[in-house]
Amino acid sequence: MSVILSPSLLSADFANLGHDIRLVEEAGADWLHIDVMDGHFVPNITIGVPVVKSIRKITNLVLDVHLMIENPADFVLPFAKAGADLITFHYEAAENPEEVISFIHKAGLKAGISIKPKTPPESIFPYLNDVDLVLVMTVEPGFGGQSFIHECASKIPLIKENAPDDLIIQVDGGINNVTSKICTSLGANSLVAGSYIFGSGDVEAACRSLLH
Ligand code: DX5
Ligand code: ZN
Repeated sequence: MSVILSPSLLSADFANLGHDIRLVEEAGADWLHIDVMDGHFVPNITIGVPVVKSIRKITNLVLDVHLMIENPADFVLPFAKAGADLITFHYEAAENPEEVISFIHKAGLKAGISIKPKTPPESIFPYLNDVDLVLVMTVEPGFGGQSFIHECASKIPLIKENAPDDLIIQVDGGINNVTSKICTSLGANSLVAGSYIFGSGDVEAACRSLLH
């Protein structure tokens, strides 16, 4: 099973994003993970629509936008227009997840739904046939550089058992060359990694160690 690598720009150098994006492109990354935080759903503020628009102009990588915001439905169109290819929102932030999924699909994008560490996987079972991706958070969302929460990985096989074969199961938080193998052996097929890749000093070697 091939694994989709989605380096998280949260740990890149924000003064040199173009440079860091080229590094992960050259290292064979498939996607670019863009963490959007609003200071309400999570206690941090990061990237917004104008940054995604600028990134769109300099790369052909799939822009994998992870919305950690309240009222995700309100921001589907702005991020779609900015050039996102995939929008993942949080189950906990959506009053009507079905509606958000349908907004994303109507905008012509792939849709993902994410759950925080304390949210049981059963909560999203009703949506598994409608989404393209499930993002299992393996840290509390909000910050890069946290340690992998092992218990979260046990959600992966439960989701896989109840999902269509082509559902992408992504993990995000504390992913390194060891935790990535735990997740892929349980059925994850997309890895997000930020500090492990951009803090490593050797982006190419870090990406290679995640993919093999
Ligand atoms: C955290 C973000 C992650 C973050 C992961 O809320 O969703 O994408 O960048 O960072 P690492 O890989 O350092 O745990
Ligand atoms: Zn993320």
